[in-house]
Amino acid sequence: MFEGLKTLPADAILGLIAEYKRDTRVNKIDLGVGVYRTAAGETPVLDVVKKAEQRLVDTQDSKAYIGTAGEPGFNAAMQTLAFAGHGDADRLVSIQTPGGSGSLRVAAGLLLRANEDTRVWVSDPTWANHVPLLGGAGLTLQPYPYYDTQQHIIRIDEMLETLRTASPGDVVLLHACCHNPSGLDPSEEQWRAISEVIVERELVPFVDMAYQGFAHGLDEDAFVIRHLADKVPTMLVSASCSKNFGLYRDRVGTLSVLCPDSKTRDVVASQLSNIVRTIYSVPPDHGAAVVSTILNDDKLTAQWHVELAEMRDRLRGMRVLLNDALGKVAPDHDFSHLVRATGMFCFLGVSEDQVNRLKKDYGIYIVGSSRINVAGITPDNVDYLAESIAAVL
Ligand SMILES: Cc1ncc(COP(=O)(O)O)c(C=O)c1O
Repeated sequence: MFEGLKTLPADAILGLIAEYKRDTRVNKIDLGVGVYRTAAGETPVLDVVKKAEQRLVDTQDSKAYIGTAGEPGFNAAMQTLAFAGHGDADRLVSIQTPGGSGSLRVAAGLLLRANEDTRVWVSDPTWANHVPLLGGAGLTLQPYPYYDTQQHIIRIDEMLETLRTASPGDVVLLHACCHNPSGLDPSEEQWRAISEVIVERELVPFVDMAYQGFAHGLDEDAFVIRHLADKVPTMLVSASCSKNFGLYRDRVGTLSVLCPDSKTRDVVASQLSNIVRTIYSVPPDHGAAVVSTILNDDKLTAQWHVELAEMRDRLRGMRVLLNDALGKVAPDHDFSHLVRATGMFCFLGVSEDQVNRLKKDYGIYIVGSSRINVAGITPDNVDYLAESIAAVL
């Protein structure tokens, strides 16, 4: 039965992780894998998550199935976190999904049911899994210019120009914050300009928010969602709790859909329920129950804000450290985009050959595009990292 199938190439990042593990050099550095890490190189369970989990162990009295849409208390809290009251509540539906990826997949199903020819504009470049995930589901994808690899800035004029050529009903996938892979987000002024084109051309914004709280703050990072929700009849928002709650493997996220009116909202809610039933039937509960416990308790929410700020500040701090260290050892090169970017990722801006030399000669592991995860930088390894980069420039 499977004779016709071929072995597929291993995922580039998984291959890199395996190579890193095999490397015996003590000063090796992993800047590839996409998870947050402390200065000790760990991806710990947040203290607030431990507390919420303990509370669940003590009080949860059933593991019976939840509904296709998940837990209402979780969905309401997540909707508030993203929209903060923007967009009419009676036009909005939010469902619990298995992570941001599950949310994107359900959204793709909905868009295809609405119109099997739906075209989705995606940034060039975008998260490596956007294209296989959304394209694999059957959507037609089209790139819009986003990142200038020479100047390390957003190609805002070309982006707007391209979106002006889109047809009414086309979907535009936007990263709410911490653009993956470039780390560069539009300013509020640029978001306003993008929103104007979306409204003018009657496009449907689809905002992917996988890093809320990792750039500037929970409210600042949701700016484009709240701004658009007051302007457009229809929009989709995929949110993930993998990074900001550190719940990667528990698979927690939401899909929110803003509809033109409450009647359409009810239709969309029934369609979402049916799509979920035909893919994974019901969402996983544990991680969402943890998030719900935190967000529906003022004290736990306050503790989460503190732990989230610690992660954000560490990422920011490592960007500054690396830029400063490079300024000393490679003064002729401009790495200021490292500090203009936010969140975990940005491009280092070196060639594939230089990426390979960093791996081979210095034990520094970076994906081929030169996207780095700044969470792999520590005060202890930053000088070695900067010197190694300078040596291959
Ligand atoms: C831009 C973007 N969207 C979505 C996701 C999916 O996250 P999750 O692990 O919650 O599926 C990621 C994860 O890296 C991401 O970077």
